[in-house]
Amino acid sequence: MATNRTFTMIKPDAVANGHIGAILNDITSAGFKIIALKYTRLSEELAGKFYEIHKERPFYKDLVDFMSSGPIVAAILEKDNAVEDFRKLIGATDPTKAEPGTIRNKYAKSIDANAVHGSDSDDNALIEGNFFFNASERF
Ligand code: PPS
Repeated sequence: MATNRTFTMIKPDAVANGHIGAILNDITSAGFKIIALKYTRLSEELAGKFYEIHKERPFYKDLVDFMSSGPIVAAILEKDNAVEDFRKLIGATDPTKAEPGTIRNKYAKSIDANAVHGSDSDDNALIEGNFFFNASERF
């Protein structure tokens, strides 16, 4: 059964391009409640750990370098069917394939700098949320 939480990051490209406010507005307008929120920067080591699941993929180093290149916004979001609905809201990983109106269609420029992350399963949503937030930071 689907849980009602997911995890997101607004990635360094979208932060650098001034899209934090617009993206958070899109997220809350779509019915997601913010349960936890943090403006921070990942070290190379932490980005490497977060994306460890992709460590055999050819783009792993580029992904880690990019995700540690500047500040990000991390958040836990709540809504019925959160993981699936959030992935619909952000659109395809490759922004050239993302549906019009999706966050990646509006704010992302390329597959490597694609504006936002969204958890791909309920299990990963929990793991990723716990990676950034301790119990006293989740509401
Ligand atoms: S997904 O969303 O997990 O199904 O997408 P996937 O294709 O498996 O990609 C996993 C994450 O890797 C990023 N990615 C890349 N980074 C750099 N260069 C290239 N070529 C590239 N291709 C994919 C992609 O944005 C996913 O990051 P997250 O943060 O999980 O969205």
